Amino acid sequence: MDYRRTYLRDLLASEPGVEVSAYGWVKTRRDSKGIHFVQINDGSCFADLQVVVTEGAIPEAAMRQVTTGACVRFDGKLVASPAAGQAVELAADGLEVYGSADPATYPMQKKGASFEFLREIAHFRARGNTFGAVFRVRNAASDAVHRFFQDRGFLYIHTPIITASDAEGAGAMFAVSPNLTVEDGKYALKVSDPADDFFGKPAFLTVSGQLEAETLALAMTNVYTFGPTFRAENSNSTRHLAEFWMIEPEMAFCDIVGNMNLAEEFLKDVIGTLLDRCAADLEFFNKRIEPDLLATLGHVVESPFERMTYTEAIRLLEASGEPFEFPVFWGADLQSEHERWLTEKKVGRPVILTDYPKQIKAFYMKQNDDGKTVRAMDVLAPRIGEIIGGSQREERLDVLSARIREMGMDPDHYGWYLDLRRFGSAPHAGFGLGFERLLLYVTGMKNIRDVIPYHRAPGQADF
Ligand code: 4AD
Ligand code: MG
Repeated sequence: MDYRRTYLRDLLASEPGVEVSAYGWVKTRRDSKGIHFVQINDGSCFADLQVVVTEGAIPEAAMRQVTTGACVRFDGKLVASPAAGQAVELAADGLEVYGSADPATYPMQKKGASFEFLREIAHFRARGNTFGAVFRVRNAASDAVHRFFQDRGFLYIHTPIITASDAEGAGAMFAVSPNLTVEDGKYALKVSDPADDFFGKPAFLTVSGQLEAETLALAMTNVYTFGPTFRAENSNSTRHLAEFWMIEPEMAFCDIVGNMNLAEEFLKDVIGTLLDRCAADLEFFNKRIEPDLLATLGHVVESPFERMTYTEAIRLLEASGEPFEFPVFWGADLQSEHERWLTEKKVGRPVILTDYPKQIKAFYMKQNDDGKTVRAMDVLAPRIGEIIGGSQREERLDVLSARIREMGMDPDHYGWYLDLRRFGSAPHAGFGLGFERLLLYVTGMKNIRDVIPYHRAPGQADF
C-alpha cells in the first residue's frame, strides 16, 4: 500500500469509463430491490462518491459489513451518473472492508447531533460534513497565510513556545517550570539554588511570539510567525481558547498606517483565496450554518475597511442610544457588544480602531504625544469582534523603560528587549491575527472550539 492515492476529489472529476479503486469511510447506505447505494468519503472534498452495487456483483456476506462508519475500498468502473448533483458514480464489483463499524454501538444519530456532543467523539466528528469542511478550510487558510507573506518577501521565523518573557505583561501564562510558585502575583522558583531548576528561571508557555519577532525584524526587516500560543485566562467564551494559533507579522521601517494597510490587504487576500479554493465547503456553510456568509465575505474582499480612532468610536457608541450592558466611557475597554454594534449596525463591515488609551493596552505600544493614547490598532469584524490586535512599537529606550517601570513590571526581565532600543533601534510595527477567529469568520461557525481539531479551554483537555 502506497501513500500515493487517487483522492475521491480527483475520481469525482474524472471522465466515465475508467477502472478505479475508491477508498473511504461509509457515510450512508441505502438498499432497494436488487441494488445497493453506498455513499463514501475520504475527506478530500465535500462531495461523497456514490457507489452502486447491483445484486450479485459483490458477495452479500461481504456487503453486510458495509455499514455507516466502516472503512472500505470499492473497485469498479466509473460511469456517468443518472442522479442529479454528480457527474460520475462507481459501478462496483470488488470490495475490501478494512474496518467494520458495529451498527449497534456506532454513534449513529444521522442528523441533529449537536456540536457539543460531537466534540466528545473524536473519530465520529472528523468524518462528518461540517468538520470535514472546517478542517479543509483550515488547511487552505494556513497555506494562504504562508503564500501571502512569502509573495511579499516576509521571512517565516519560529519563535519559542517555552519562554521566560510575558509578551503581553498580563500574567495569563501557563507555567512550565516544575518548581514554580506564585506569591502575590510574582513568580519564583521553589528551589534554593536556581541551578537546580531545569531552566534556572521561571519558564512558561508563550502568549505571543511578538517580542522575539521584533528582534528578528530589527535584523531582517519583514518577518512573520505562525504558531501555537497559550493563555491561562479563565475565559469560558465562544471566542477564547487556552491554546490557539496566531499569525504575527513584524515589520521594521513601518508605522501604524503601513501596519493597517498590511492587515487589511492580508485579510482580503486570505478570504479571497478561500472563496476560490474552498467554494464547495463555503457553500455548505452558507446553506447550513450562516445565511449570507458568501455575500458578506465577497463584500469584505471588495470594500475598504472603515478606519477611526478609539475616541471617535466612543463618541459614536455614546450617541447610539443603545442599551448596552457594559457602560461606555472614554478609557473603558470595548466589550464585544460594543464591537458588534460598531461593525454590524454602524458600519456594516470590518473596522480598524486606532489610538486606544494607554492604560488598557500593552506596555510595548508606541505612545502618542497627547500622553494619553498609544498607537494601537485593532481590527474588528462583524459577528466576531476583535480579530486582529497590533500596534506600532515604542522604539524610544527612555519612554519604553519608563513605561515598564510605571506598569510595575520588572525591567530586568526585559533587558534583552530594551537592548533592541539601545542598539540600532528603528520605527517598527506588527500585529497578531487569531487564526481560529479568522476561521470563525470565514466559516460562520459559532463556537471557536469547533474550528480546531482538539480544543483546549477551561476544564477541557480531552484526547
Ligand atoms: O490582541 P492580542 O492579545 O495581541 C497580541 O498578542 C500581540 N502580541 C500581537 C502582535 O502585535 N504581534 O492577540 C492577538 C489576537 C487577537 O486579536 C485575537 O484574534 C487572538 O489573537 N486571540 C485569541 N484567540 C483565541 N483565544 C484567545 N484566548 C485569544 N486571545 C487573543
Ligand atoms: Mg487584543
